[in-house]
Amino acid sequence: MASAQPGFDPHTPVNMNAQAFHDHKYLWYEWLREEAPVCTGKISVMKVNLVSRYEDCRMILSDPRFLRNRGRARGKGTRPLPFPLPRSIAALAKSMILEDDPEHRRLRSLVNKGFSPRVVAKLSGQVSGLADQLLDQLGSQKGSFDLLSAYARPIPMRVIAGMVGVTGREAEQFGEVMQTVTQGLTGLKMVRTLFWDLRRAQRFVRDLIANKRKARGDDILSELIEAEEAGESLSEDELVAMVFLLIIGGFETTLHLITNGALVMTQHPDQLAELRADPSHWGSAVEEIVRYRGPIHGTKLLYPIEEVTLQGVKIARGTPCLPILGAANHDPRAFEDPGTFDMKRSPNHHLGFGFGPHFCLGRQLALMEARVALEKLFTRYPNLRVDESGGPPQVANMPGWHRHLSLPVFLEA
Ligand code: HEM
Repeated sequence: MASAQPGFDPHTPVNMNAQAFHDHKYLWYEWLREEAPVCTGKISVMKVNLVSRYEDCRMILSDPRFLRNRGRARGKGTRPLPFPLPRSIAALAKSMILEDDPEHRRLRSLVNKGFSPRVVAKLSGQVSGLADQLLDQLGSQKGSFDLLSAYARPIPMRVIAGMVGVTGREAEQFGEVMQTVTQGLTGLKMVRTLFWDLRRAQRFVRDLIANKRKARGDDILSELIEAEEAGESLSEDELVAMVFLLIIGGFETTLHLITNGALVMTQHPDQLAELRADPSHWGSAVEEIVRYRGPIHGTKLLYPIEEVTLQGVKIARGTPCLPILGAANHDPRAFEDPGTFDMKRSPNHHLGFGFGPHFCLGRQLALMEARVALEKLFTRYPNLRVDESGGPPQVANMPGWHRHLSLPVFLEA
């Protein structure tokens, strides 16, 4: 039983920011699933209902009684978040990830076709060339270097820059701004992030849009600008929020999937050897990486429109609920031997890309990028090893995420 582990002391409310939670994340997940499948938790100063079993997570992500927009769920206005955003960044709350149908469907349909299998297939050649180019440069490294910043970061950054239609340099600068934002939104730096970093990031996006208005191209941003200028399907604030969502959604997530995947593969040399012998398993290996150590462990909050009883616990109308995807993906009710990484796992209906109407729009793109990046990396450098001279790779203490601060490696051909 999880609670028998030394140093693990379960209690409620579960403080997801606490070091003790972070240090024993998977034990907490197990304890929650088995002992308190719906319970009160804390993220920063906010109390939330934590939901940790697979079936319950799927249910609240797809049941129409659970909304994204808090104001609508409570029958009080349309403000999506539990706290007012400063006016300067209020536009960011106009994001489809915080909206429900029909607004959500209207916004999603504007960008949907940019993620079609045809588009993803076309991009795979570009990702392959980029991975080769980066590995050529990295091959001359003496000693160890950080795989996260030198390899896992530039791939999704350039892909999303190309798709959205911003220059590589603009996307790089935006990536730096966004890193501060995502790291700052979960901890004590929240106020600084809300009042400073997010403002800076939003200004950045507004500048990108202004530049693009002057020089349109064959990209998602140009299409969105046309829709906004036609004035029927998209407001300017929604445009800003959409660009923001696409860049964050497409970049931070995928970079950590590639990094987590590289680490997982070095920890499973037998399966890596099998992949080398038969690369056709890379597709299912990457799916399993998303289940086993996916970068996203929680969705945006959901709010019930009426009192809902789940696992015998009453969830009051309008109170925030957090499906813990990281816990659901290790639920033995849904996965045989969930603590084992099995690259051939089938079926593998994990929730690493969410579920229901907000199911990840970029899933195919992310899977393709990670597959190409990891296959290239381990084909060129089959003996790649993690440099643990400074201790094991550190996982960032960020509830809702599973991401490393860095991944020092030696490339050994
Ligand atoms: C490893 C990579 C990725 C992971 C693990 C991931 C995960 C997720 C998850 C869990 C959700 C649901 C969030 C929720 O319900 O609140 C989501 C939604 C979303 N993802 Fe991803 N994602 C990844 C890559 C991408 C990429 C590459 C893009 C686009 C370029 C993208 C765009 C989006 C968008 C736009 C949504 C919101 C969809 C909506 O509200 O209808 N994601 N993603």
